[in-house]
Amino acid sequence: MKNKLQTCLASIREKTDFKPEIALILGSGLGDYADGIQIETTVDYSEIEGFPVSTVTGHKGRFVFGYVGEVPVVIMQGRVHYYEGYPMTDVVLPTRLMGLLGAKKLILTNAAGGINEHFRPGDFMMITDHIATGVPSPLIGPNLEELGPRFPDMSEVYSRRIQDVIREAASDCGISLREGVYVQLTGPNYETPAEVKMCKIWGGDAVGMSTACEAVAARHMGMEIGGISCITNLAAGISKEKLDHKEVQETADRVSKDFKRLVTKIIETM
Ligand code: HPA
Repeated sequence: MKNKLQTCLASIREKTDFKPEIALILGSGLGDYADGIQIETTVDYSEIEGFPVSTVTGHKGRFVFGYVGEVPVVIMQGRVHYYEGYPMTDVVLPTRLMGLLGAKKLILTNAAGGINEHFRPGDFMMITDHIATGVPSPLIGPNLEELGPRFPDMSEVYSRRIQDVIREAASDCGISLREGVYVQLTGPNYETPAEVKMCKIWGGDAVGMSTACEAVAARHMGMEIGGISCITNLAAGISKEKLDHKEVQETADRVSKDFKRLVTKIIETM
């Protein structure tokens, strides 16, 4: 794994010496954001030796290097999901890579199903904490000592400072913001109503198939993290409707303008 990370890092460094301050991972349907920034260069995942390539439709597979305002950023346009069949260490490899490229801060975004009965499709939920126990920890296996400790603390995965930045950014943009706990399950099937009930009893407000594992790997490296879920649908059993990936994309499209304004404001002020 160490070698794979270093191979990928060297492969990117052959193409660019860009040094990002902030890393951003774009969720399902939110990938457009990267097209609107001041792009310096892009690197397709397929150009990176040893890199796990995403297979989901609607996910582009590339790193975008550029500026949001004055801030140098690296954006993952399309992430790698556990349900694609990669080992968890590969799933978080891009996150680690962005950390090694120099990003000390990470913003995670995703599309998620709403569990909290006050949530509506199209809401933004700031992630205050997560439950990652539905997937294997990305830290299982020999510890990469040069990245972080064997038993890293997870008592503040989503930085309180960045949470304040996100609240303030939402308020400045006039965008209403929900807050809650994100539960990661493996997917790719959506949950059963019983599973959603379980997530609710666990203390979850939203459920999805990504993000928490990336947050664990990033926190292990000491990155400062913020997270936002776009509630694209009500989770199974909360709504009477059947779930469909199309609905997820349609909702993400509908709110993409607000999403762009919010994320830009967050990056500029964090
Ligand atoms: N469940 C899991 N993942 C999701 C959902 C959902 O309802 N909506 C978008 N991603």
